[in-house]
Amino acid sequence: MMKGKHIVLGITGGIAAYKAASLLRLFVKNGAEVQVVMTPSAREFITPVTLSALSGKPVISEFFTANTGSWNSHVDIGLWADAMVIAPATACTIGKMANGIADNMLVTTYLSAKAPVFIAPAMDLDMMAHPSTVANIEKLKSYGNHIIEPASGELASHLVGKGRMEEPERIYEVIERYFTTEQSLAGKRIMVTAGPTYEKIDPVRFIGNYSSGKMGYAIADECARRGAEVVLVSGPVSVSPSMPVQVVKVESGRQMLAACEEWFDKCDAAVMCAAVADYYVDNVSDVKIKREHSEIPSINLKKNPDIAATLGSRKSAKQLLVGFALETDNEMENAREKLRRKNLDFIVLNSLRDANSGFATDNNTITIIGSNGDCVKYGNKPKTEVAKDIVDYLSELL
Ligand code: C5P
Repeated sequence: MMKGKHIVLGITGGIAAYKAASLLRLFVKNGAEVQVVMTPSAREFITPVTLSALSGKPVISEFFTANTGSWNSHVDIGLWADAMVIAPATACTIGKMANGIADNMLVTTYLSAKAPVFIAPAMDLDMMAHPSTVANIEKLKSYGNHIIEPASGELASHLVGKGRMEEPERIYEVIERYFTTEQSLAGKRIMVTAGPTYEKIDPVRFIGNYSSGKMGYAIADECARRGAEVVLVSGPVSVSPSMPVQVVKVESGRQMLAACEEWFDKCDAAVMCAAVADYYVDNVSDVKIKREHSEIPSINLKKNPDIAATLGSRKSAKQLLVGFALETDNEMENAREKLRRKNLDFIVLNSLRDANSGFATDNNTITIIGSNGDCVKYGNKPKTEVAKDIVDYLSELL
């Protein structure tokens, strides 16, 4: 899939620059042609000789080649690229890219590139968390660049936190996937809700459910793989996305509603996969409820908002809304009733009667019921494959 692809690999001056050699090797081994463009400070971290030997091309880092005086055309390199990957991307280069400060070959090439751009930030945790870095990354995302989120772990400073450049294998995988899947959702923004909600009882207890988030995360990944910009509104889960998606973490049903209301109008579609608790606790205790109570304490429940129905009542003719139904009895009737009541375009039914399906499993068996009367049954498959079926159906409608 990578064979013959033209990759511009931008390397900036951070410790993680040494990992760029492994990334370059992966591209070359899989048949890509790579042009390395380094910032001047990247040369302090890894020698251009290593990179030119691995890529089979002279490395570019200056506007002019000193010994020949020939001009390195950032426009030509930008147009040659099928993808540009900046790994590692320091806070400095991210800032320059976000603000068009084209004082080196790398940023000028970035501004000239027509191809998709993937950015793998790497920096110390405090730099990563600084509001200016956060804002610059948001700005780059809003321009359509793909951010490959850094991992958490021990950093070069020996501090532990978020900022370690994602491993070369993972970066390679993201780019390979980009080329393998047709970009049928490019230009679309899709919101996905996932996971359970936790409804607080006291500071240490909550009402929750067994939802693992796996189905919603698989759908979010699949949408991103097909080029969509994805906003994943997620309850508390232990899974993480494999693709660059924007995760909005929430805990309660009411927080999930607020996040969905903020994002829905800016989206072309929403897939409501979360298992929202039906009730929240109205008399949350500020202190831990003690066991040694004279009488058994009671909790007052109130109905949580129905997020899907709320969005259904305000969706525009251009927007699509997808819901899920997890049923134990009268499956088809119940699912059809939800489809109507929540004003959904289609509903994905999974029955708890099917073996190896539903909550917290790796597999699922679904039936898609459309508002147009469609009813499509699928076999038992891993959730990642089920996600493809659902996103195929969604892409057709979009
Ligand atoms: O009504 P029920 O909970 O069975 O409906 C399931 C569908 O509605 C799912 O798509 C779920 O994400 C969504 N839902 C919601 N907000 C709720 C309850 C369910 O968005 N409070």
